[in-house]
Amino acid sequence: MALYAIGDLHLHFQSELKARRQLRERVWKNHEEKLRLACEKLLKPEDTLVLVGDHSWGRKLPECEEDLRYIQALPGRKILIRGNHDMFWDAGKTQELNRLFEGKLFLLQGNFSSYGDYALVGTKGACFEGPFYLDRRGRILGWDEEAERQAKKLVERETERLRASFEAARAAGFRRYLVFLHYPPTNILEEESPFTRLAEEYGAEQLIYAHIHGESRYGDSILGEKNGIRYSLVSGDYLKWQPLKLLD
Ligand SMILES: [Fe+2]
Ligand SMILES: [Fe+2]
Repeated sequence: MALYAIGDLHLHFQSELKARRQLRERVWKNHEEKLRLACEKLLKPEDTLVLVGDHSWGRKLPECEEDLRYIQALPGRKILIRGNHDMFWDAGKTQELNRLFEGKLFLLQGNFSSYGDYALVGTKGACFEGPFYLDRRGRILGWDEEAERQAKKLVERETERLRASFEAARAAGFRRYLVFLHYPPTNILEEESPFTRLAEEYGAEQLIYAHIHGESRYGDSILGEKNGIRYSLVSGDYLKWQPLKLLD
């Protein structure tokens, strides 16, 4: 039995693809096929795969049906985190969607799932992404402070969702945790955040995030071990469509 994660599939079986990166970069060419083959090779039916957000370009559920069917057809149990592009998944409709996909997919946001004696907790997360003002060498000179204030509100709301997730798991008797966020846990200016502090407060063992695309951005947040937590970036293009094993 094993637990794997990967994020940012950005599927578009039914919807129009507008992202330049996905149209041009080699890593995105036939990525659905690359991921399907990797999953079929790696995952056994008893394994679990967490998909860490940005599943589909579809804006409404009917436009995502083929994308979600593709995910359902991957081997193992599938758990989904909400990404910023997942318009089909209204934050208030998690329970409703879980009823709809019962036995097929589990949508993780503010609730929790389990893997052995671990609770899998999570939410979309949030971080300030700029705009930043740079000099010619790419050094940060300043940033949009109004946008930063807005981002802070989102961080607060998402921190509460993560706390709700931890509390639900703790109330059910869990004491070991893995945290899943779509957004990186910190912005590029920070070394810690309300998400990293919450993960430390509950003694989480790993924090897994996605959302970051492109070579120059992969180091934007924490990677590797910090204060007893292992941080992993699992965007599909970063992993070259090979799901990352988190636990045996
Ligand atoms: Fe993405
Ligand atoms: Fe994203």
